Amino acid sequence: MKKIFVSFLLSICLLKAKADEGMWLPMLLGQQVYNDMVKKGLKLTKEQLYSINKSSLKDAILIFGGGCTGEIVSDQGLIFTNHHCGYAAIAGASTIEHNYLTDGFYAFNKGQEIKSELTVQFLDRIVDVTKDVEEGIKGLAWTDRVAKMPEVYKTITDKVLDKDNGLAGRVYSMFKGNQYIMYVYKTYRDVRLVGAPPEKVGKFGGDTDNWEWPRHTGDFSIFRVYATKDGKPAEYSNENIPLKPKYFLPVSIKGIKDNDFAMIYGYPGGTNRYETSYGIKLKNEIENPSLVNLRDVRLKLMHEQMIKDPAVKLKLASNYASVANYWKFFDGETKQLIKFHTFEQKQAYENTFATWAKGKPEYENIFNDYAKNYAAWTLYSKQRQYINEGIIGSPLAAFGASLIGVETNLVKTGVSSADLKKSLTAAEAMRKTFLAAEDRSSDEKILAKTAMLFYNDIDKSQHPIGFYEGIKATYGDLKEEQTFKKWARDVFTKTMLLDDAKWTAFIANPDATVLQADPGFAYAAAFVKNYNLKYAPLYTAFTNKNAELGKSYLKGIMEMNPKAASKMYPDANFSMRVSYGNVKSYNPRDAVHYDYVTTGKGVLEKYIAGDYEFDLPAKQIELMKKKDFGQYIDKGRNDLVIDFITTNDITGGNSGSPVIDGSGNLIGLAFDGNYEALSHKIAFDKDLNRTICVDVRYVLWCIDKLGGAQNIISELKLIK
Ligand code: ARG
Repeated sequence: MKKIFVSFLLSICLLKAKADEGMWLPMLLGQQVYNDMVKKGLKLTKEQLYSINKSSLKDAILIFGGGCTGEIVSDQGLIFTNHHCGYAAIAGASTIEHNYLTDGFYAFNKGQEIKSELTVQFLDRIVDVTKDVEEGIKGLAWTDRVAKMPEVYKTITDKVLDKDNGLAGRVYSMFKGNQYIMYVYKTYRDVRLVGAPPEKVGKFGGDTDNWEWPRHTGDFSIFRVYATKDGKPAEYSNENIPLKPKYFLPVSIKGIKDNDFAMIYGYPGGTNRYETSYGIKLKNEIENPSLVNLRDVRLKLMHEQMIKDPAVKLKLASNYASVANYWKFFDGETKQLIKFHTFEQKQAYENTFATWAKGKPEYENIFNDYAKNYAAWTLYSKQRQYINEGIIGSPLAAFGASLIGVETNLVKTGVSSADLKKSLTAAEAMRKTFLAAEDRSSDEKILAKTAMLFYNDIDKSQHPIGFYEGIKATYGDLKEEQTFKKWARDVFTKTMLLDDAKWTAFIANPDATVLQADPGFAYAAAFVKNYNLKYAPLYTAFTNKNAELGKSYLKGIMEMNPKAASKMYPDANFSMRVSYGNVKSYNPRDAVHYDYVTTGKGVLEKYIAGDYEFDLPAKQIELMKKKDFGQYIDKGRNDLVIDFITTNDITGGNSGSPVIDGSGNLIGLAFDGNYEALSHKIAFDKDLNRTICVDVRYVLWCIDKLGGAQNIISELKLIK
């Protein structure tokens, strides 16, 4: 079966990948790709990279939490990942008195490590299940396939489910559904916080420097995975012991030079390198600008409160960071797509394809169909962004919308009391989570502003019936911001969603009319139901049609280029990949050259005392001024190397990924991409694309010199 798969892979071909572009499946590396890796400086065999029978490098790589990568760096299950990947866990372990986000944290022995809600997943094996999937959906029309797919996947994954050993499968569609691969993972549920630098180090430069080079961030945190005495996954328990891993990465403190080989293993979340010109137009003209504007508004309102009050800051920090991260990303993405003329390039390629497709019934109508599909949806696409990023960008409204299920259960006849109770219990749990992260002052402003923006920016024919008329009748002119502020004030004073006594009374005696009359619920429900009823079905039809067309288009591209065989890779989809390239400087624009490393000197240059983003721990300044760098010094520079850049092809999800030298040693942690190439999800630029990594010597210096946690250093296998 595997053989068939490999030859299938090799027989498919695509737009020839450019230098260092490519997120390869490490278990199925083509010989040509492997040879290229060797040419660039890899000294390991294919077996050392990935082996089914023996422990290999891939056994040190794990899915960290919900969307990051981590790596094992000691024989006691020690994990390195990014600070921004551990962020929620670090914030969650913090209180105002013991604020690990602000002050950093190190466990000086295993007893001091802190329980988290995180899981980690190791890849056990992969299975090509293309035939099984195709068998399961044979003869079905596209929408029926989509409907049946979860059941087909479940039948396949049920066969490998082994709860006792924590093993479960997930099926990934590759090449837009032209191939299916199941990855079987082993999930560990006892993961403990071992260390993190102060945020001033781990998020140095904040959102100003985010997605930018030159960078000076110490973006790392440390965890440990625990298992039962016989190495099985288990819930957190005192009985558990550190996992004895199959493989761990040695850590090299020899340092890096320009052009050194660099390989990055990890879990890139998503790319769409075969996006059409239609998709790019919609993204650039509607989706990205709407999202960016709405996030901009929310972020400013949150930030206002966060800088005033450390308790609010701690509450909102994690959510703020993730909203801000992709606010800047999508803004930059559109700028770069325009700079690279990606729309025009895609159009030109589509013209070539259309010429080739003439007279081929399977392919000749693809672009007509794309055009129709986009024309049908484009009118409503802004509404979708305004619901997701605007209306339910208010945490109160998001919680309100989550109660629509409770309302349904209350009004529907024949709902069993058990089912009703279940939905109320779920609502109680949701409310706890909501309240724990709720900052009323920013939320009230967000509520007012997003309701107003929806009114101004979305075509009146798409407004929920009666809602704005109601505001006008009670609060005044809809052109006035004041009107919405007065309305929001009332919502916040009157809603039971924020009032413990009223809420408890409702749960004790649930009544649909009470819920429907609640201004917090009524508001959210009006908008979300309007969307769900009128626009969600159109969106589903749109995405289904796009998926169907995408599958044919990609198949057609492969047929049109039957020679580019070994140089193709499937889009990222959070399955394990390896990318390779070199440490490398670049010229971001005319007359500007960027070096491939940043140093301690630059950290001190950026330092602004007391600043929200560029402050530093006093001890760091003192040690850096004294040049107390110990064995982590870069001798050539007589300084500490902070971050470096490589040509590797990665994306979100790769955060925390190990950057590995030609001999298999850890030299850094990938944590970002550069602004000049933020088009990378859609178009990889071979000249400008860089991966931003924190040098492992800086990581170790922070742990050892700044944090005093020599216990952690002594666990590592250092290559000097
Ligand atoms: N851009 C980084 C990534 O997506 C995350 C950096 C987090 N820092 C921040 N300032 N929000 O991997």
